[in-house]
Amino acid sequence: MKFFIDTANLAQIKEAHDLGVLDGVTTNPSLMAKEGIKGDAAIIKHYEDICEIVDGDVSAEVLSTDYHAIIEEGKKLAAIHPNIVVKVPMIKDGVKAIKWFTDNGIRTNCTLVFSAGQAILAAKAGAAYVSPFIGRIDDTNWDGIELIAQIAQIYTLQGFKTEILAASIRNALHIVKCAEVGANVCTCPLDSILGLLKHPLTDIGLAKFLEDAKKM
Ligand code: E4P
Repeated sequence: MKFFIDTANLAQIKEAHDLGVLDGVTTNPSLMAKEGIKGDAAIIKHYEDICEIVDGDVSAEVLSTDYHAIIEEGKKLAAIHPNIVVKVPMIKDGVKAIKWFTDNGIRTNCTLVFSAGQAILAAKAGAAYVSPFIGRIDDTNWDGIELIAQIAQIYTLQGFKTEILAASIRNALHIVKCAEVGANVCTCPLDSILGLLKHPLTDIGLAKFLEDAKKM
C-alpha cells in the first residue's frame, strides 16, 4: 500500500518525505485555502513547490464544475508537472471530464466518493485513482472501511485498473484497516502517519534497554 500525505502544508510534506515512506500528496481546496494560497499564480507555484519535495503523484483539484471548464482547468494543472494528477469531483460533468482526460493521457483522481456505485462509474471512466472518504462516512454512523472492502472486491472481480485511494483518514487504525481490506493507497494527515509509530511497550522497552545499557 502506498502512503500519500493529505495536506498542502510544505513543512508537513517535507517531514513525511524525510521519514522515507512518502509516495505522494493529495490536496483539496480546503487544504489549499488553509495555507493561504490565493490566485492562479500562487496555486501553480504551490504545486511546483510540492512537486519539488516529493517525487510521486500529487493530486491537484479542479475548482470548476462544468464539463468544458473542468477540462480547461485540468489541462492547465496537468501542465504544471508530470506528477500532477487532476482531482475531479464525482458529479456528472466530472465523470464525463474524467473520460476525456483518460482518452487524452491525463491521469485523474475521482474525489468525493461515498458509494460503490460511484466507484464503479469512476473506474469505467478510467480514473487512475478513486477517493472514498472513510472518515466522513464514519461521521454519519456508516462504516467507511466496509466501503473500501466492497470497492476492492468489485474492482478485483471486474478487473478494474483504478487504484483505491482511501481518503479522509482520521487515525492510525484507519490506515491499518485500509491495508487489511485492500486499499492501494492511503492518504493521511501527518499525525495519523506518525501515530503508526506509537506503542507504549516500545517506549517502556526502550527506556529499559537504555537503562541497562549504562551497565554495559
Ligand atoms: C483527500 O483527497 C480528501 O480531500 C481528504 O482526505 C478529505 O479529508 P477530510 O474529510 O478530513 O476533510
